[in-house]
Amino acid sequence: MRILVTGSAGFIGSHFVRTLLADGFDGCRGASVTALDKLTYAGNRDNLPASHARLEFVQGDILDRALLRELLPGHDAIVHFAAESHVDRSIDDGSAAFRTNVLGTQTLLEAALEAGTERVVHVSTDEVYGSIEKGSWTEDWPLAPNSPYAASKAASDLVARAYWKTHGLDLSITRCSNNYGPYQHPEKLIPLFATNLMEGKQVPLYGDGSNIREWLHVDDHCRGIQLVLNKGRAGEVYNIGGGNERTNRQIANRLLELTGSVPQMVRRVGDRKGHDLRYSIDDRKIRQELGYAPRIDFEQGLADTVAWYRDNPAWWTAVKDSTYTAA
Ligand SMILES: NC(=O)c1ccc[n+]([C@@H]2O[C@H](COP(=O)([O-])OP(=O)(O)OC[C@H]3O[C@@H](n4cnc5c(N)ncnc54)[C@H](O)[C@@H]3O)[C@@H](O)[C@H]2O)c1
Repeated sequence: MRILVTGSAGFIGSHFVRTLLADGFDGCRGASVTALDKLTYAGNRDNLPASHARLEFVQGDILDRALLRELLPGHDAIVHFAAESHVDRSIDDGSAAFRTNVLGTQTLLEAALEAGTERVVHVSTDEVYGSIEKGSWTEDWPLAPNSPYAASKAASDLVARAYWKTHGLDLSITRCSNNYGPYQHPEKLIPLFATNLMEGKQVPLYGDGSNIREWLHVDDHCRGIQLVLNKGRAGEVYNIGGGNERTNRQIANRLLELTGSVPQMVRRVGDRKGHDLRYSIDDRKIRQELGYAPRIDFEQGLADTVAWYRDNPAWWTAVKDSTYTAA
């Protein structure tokens, strides 16, 4: 089996590839990977093994149809992670998010059709549903995205659905809650707070910190994606969650404890524009249909993640330096 993984040098895509190459997925043992990534500020070649007999790394853009035409033949499946993934950046300027997330997905799926690729998983997010005060989203909940990032992901979900419905592409969509774990870019909440606190810098908490997110370890997310890849039904959406709802204030307080820091290091800043209040996923479908269940306890996973950042300062200082220089 040969799988093309887009966005494979980013946080979640690289975890998926590392796990796959380590034969950590029952359904994909021995599979080879073509790791396609543009290496934007968010992509890092060091997130993948420098060399591996079953890995081919290709630096390239999912908007490059000629490259895809050349690359795709011979692949049995595509797992599509590539995206502009940061809400704040999409609020500053949404162009890159719409270009990559919408047109990039459409270009990739057009190329998949042309190459006759047999299976595609489109990796999406719970943010396409908007914000929910009470209860949890099921897969048939209306899409009501609030940020430009979420709107671009919702649009790409609809593109993906259309390529299944119109062309019969064997494609499933996953919608996961917030991920945490090693190798996450330090612009995102948990690594930003953890690394700033380790550096003795203050951390910015939006508004009153009461916004609620549901957290899932990246390893559990990737196992969910693999189950969908191997056993998911075409045209179906699968929510992937963990049930760990926390306010941003609770996350900040726990990170203060884990880094041995003090409450004065949290600085309240004006709220994010259009800030969603609460995310909550109902993931009974993937549990019942595909036997998914998250394995990593949130408190332990968070402690291990902070320990990873503590043990790997060279990784995140280089990422912070290059992002700062590039910005
Ligand atoms: N991080 C989360 O909490 C979360 C939760 C649910 C879903 N998702 C989704 O999972 C996917 C991966 O998220 P992530 O957190 O790993 O993001 P990330 O920003 O860490 O990685 C994105 C990767 O895509 C690459 N990329 C960007 N534009 C590209 C292009 N035009 N062509 C090829 N490669 C390109 C980047 O270089 C980077 O390596 C995204 O689709 C995101 O919407 C993320």
